[in-house]
Parts: sequence; C-alpha cells; structure tokens
Amino acid sequence: MARLDIFLVLAITCTWAAAAQPQPNDDEVTWAKRVETGTQLITTLQFYFHDNPRGQNPTTTNIAQGPQTNNSSTLFGLLTMLDDPLTVGPDPSSKVVGRARGLYGSAGQMELRLIMVVSYGFTDGIYNGSSFSLLSINPALQPVREMAIVGGTGLFRLASGYAVVRTYWLDATTGNVITGYNVTIATYL
Ligand SMILES: *[C@@H]1O[C@H](CO)[C@@H](O)[C@H](O)[C@H]1NC(C)=O
Ligand SMILES: *[C@@H]1O[C@H](CO)[C@@H](O)[C@H](O)[C@H]1NC(C)=O
Ligand SMILES: *[C@@H]1O[C@H](CO)[C@@H](O)[C@H](O)[C@H]1NC(C)=O
Ligand SMILES: *[C@@H]1O[C@H](CO)[C@@H](O)[C@H](O)[C@H]1NC(C)=O
Repeated sequence: MARLDIFLVLAITCTWAAAAQPQPNDDEVTWAKRVETGTQLITTLQFYFHDNPRGQNPTTTNIAQGPQTNNSSTLFGLLTMLDDPLTVGPDPSSKVVGRARGLYGSAGQMELRLIMVVSYGFTDGIYNGSSFSLLSINPALQPVREMAIVGGTGLFRLASGYAVVRTYWLDATTGNVITGYNVTIATYL
C-alpha cells in the first residue's frame, strides 16, 4: 500500500513536471514561444510594428475627422485606417511575419490617446493564418504602454492577453514610427 502511494505521488509529480515543460518544438518560429501550464497554453511573441503615415509608401490613411479636429492639439476625432507590416526585427527590411490591420482614432481631448481596434494577422510558420485582436487605449507618447488582447483565431482561438509595447524609433517630421511588441497570450489546451 505504501509503495502504491509513493508510486502515485511520483506519477502525479512527474505529470506536473512534464506539463510545465516547453512544448516540443514542432515547427516553431524564432519570434514566438509556447509553454503549457496546466490547462492553458501561454504564448509569448516578440515582433516590431512599422507605422508610416507619410513617405513614399504610406501604410495608413486618414478616413474621417470631426469638425473641431483641426483645432485640437491632440487631433481629437481623427480616425485612421492602417495596414502595417510586422517584422521579426526593428529593421524594416527584416523578415515580415504578419500585418496589423484596423483603425486607430484620436480619443483624448486633453492628451494624446489613441483607441486601437486592430487585428494582428500572422503569415509565418505555424502561426500562418492565425490572428489576435487588440482593443485598447494607446497613450502613444509614453515610452512604454500596455494594451489588452481580447480574442483571436486559429492558434489564438479564445485568446486573452496583453501587449507591452515600446517606441523603438520615431521620426518626428514624418510621424513614421517603429514599435517593439512583447505579447503574452493565454489560450486553452
Ligand atoms: C483641416 O485641415 C486640413 C489640412 O490642412 C484641410 O484639408 C481640411 O479641409 C480641414 N478641415 C476642416 C474641417 O477644417
Ligand atoms: C479654429 O480656431 C480658429 C482660431 O483659433 C478659429 O478662428 C476657428 O473658428 C476655429 N475653427 C473651428 C472649426 O472651430
Ligand atoms: C500561409 O498560408 C497560405 C494559405 O494557406 C499559403 O498560401 C501561404 O503560402 C502560407 N505562407 C507561408 C509563409 O507558409
Ligand atoms: C520585451 O522583451 C525583451 C526580452 O525579454 C526585453 O528585453 C524588453 O525590455 C521587453 N520590452 C518591453 C517593452 O517590456
């Protein structure tokens, strides 16, 4: 009986230890990691977002604004559509792993606050065809900000999570910006 108990304890401990191990690397990508924790799969992603309002190949277009927007220091009411490349590194010529598509709107009257309604869709490795949806306020002038991830498709079905983002590079004249994303997503096993 005592031996059986020890066996059970060992079996449970080993199962638990196995569950905490990283996933066997099937066809993983360099910019994402997956770890199983009990009933959840935690995926961490690192990539760069290139937003180019002006220049030769703009990635955004302003689609609407309010009657007072031109007189607002924060361009309150300006709505912009984006289709921005996501790359593995900060260099715009590094490998493209997906695109961020959606809208941001100036939602702060006193200070710059962008409401982000954006789908991040991936095209690389096992994440090809998967996406997550971000819906959050972006205090874009703060060096580091956090935004909420509210859902997803493919490998990100039933996703919840957050993105911690940092401005990597900003061209004050064009408004072109490169932002580093550290994303944590929980899905179910
Ligand atoms: C706001 O400014 C832009 C660019 O200067 C101009 O094209 C537009 O007509 C202005 N809109 C309003 C509502 O004044
Ligand atoms: C914008 O401000 C200018 C001067 O500050 C004013 O003459 C103009 O009427 C304002 N425009 C609107 C649309 O409020
Ligand atoms: C991603 O999936 C699409 C549709 O299945 C396919 O056409 C494309 O070649 C894939 N891209 C990569 C990089 O695997
Ligand atoms: C993102 O993660 C990297 C590697 O862990 C870290 O060096 C960097 O500081 C993180 N960035 C933010 C904005 O947290």
